[in-house]
Amino acid sequence: MKKILSPGEIAQFHDQGFVCIPQITTAEEVAWLREAYDRLFERRAGWDKGDMFDFAGTDAPGVALAAPQLSFPSRYEPALENTIFRANASAMAKQLLGASAQLVFEHAMLKPARNGAPTPWHQDEAFYASKGGNDVLTFWMALQPVDAHNGCMDFIAGSNKGPLLAHRRINGDPRIHGLEALGVDEGRRVSCPLPAGGATVHGYHTLHHANANLSGEPRRAYALLFGIPQDKPLSGEAFPWNRDVATARLERAKKADGLLRRYARQLRTAAKAVIR
Ligand code: NI
Repeated sequence: MKKILSPGEIAQFHDQGFVCIPQITTAEEVAWLREAYDRLFERRAGWDKGDMFDFAGTDAPGVALAAPQLSFPSRYEPALENTIFRANASAMAKQLLGASAQLVFEHAMLKPARNGAPTPWHQDEAFYASKGGNDVLTFWMALQPVDAHNGCMDFIAGSNKGPLLAHRRINGDPRIHGLEALGVDEGRRVSCPLPAGGATVHGYHTLHHANANLSGEPRRAYALLFGIPQDKPLSGEAFPWNRDVATARLERAKKADGLLRRYARQLRTAAKAVIR
């Protein structure tokens, strides 16, 4: 199943900073991904290396994860490298960014039934600086139908053309990975409910947010980020809100092998995108 963006979708992305795609992969792939997610989150894949962590909590022992995430899930489920979702997102990223666009990051997100924390308003750029323009894109795919009741994505239309807002760690707590933007004007808020296998695309400067999951089922989402290769790594260290970060995931990463120690240093200086 091949899919590319229509001229209207491309125009909407550049004008408003996001676009909603009703279908980017097949029902069969969505069913397989749901099973893969359940395996990965059940065994807390990557926890010891800091790849799995609570986006909205402190990873304290014995405390249920409010919004668990897994960075680089294909490290733990290699078949994820060959999804229809990845192929279609790659083709669309080239439409939006040019032929040199390539995958730069991926993460799996789970909001548990009835207690998934909301993902606060933020701009992905706040995690990592970049060159001008919308040159890092996030494709966020829903693995079940999503709406305002179970945590669909909301965007501020046109925020791709506005300033980078000041951010802080959620609740001002340096132990929490997630960031929240300050002073968001929600006047041009647009919700993007989707069927399973649908996706949103947003630029790194676009303000976005996801509600808590109030439903009785987990809300699973899979994000792929595409960018243009840069001369120097993406780095958010210049932003004051990234200077005090002190998350348990970084401590776990430091304790892991040498490769992951390098990864932890990268995270400290060039914090990876997250997202909801
Ligand atoms: Ni985000």
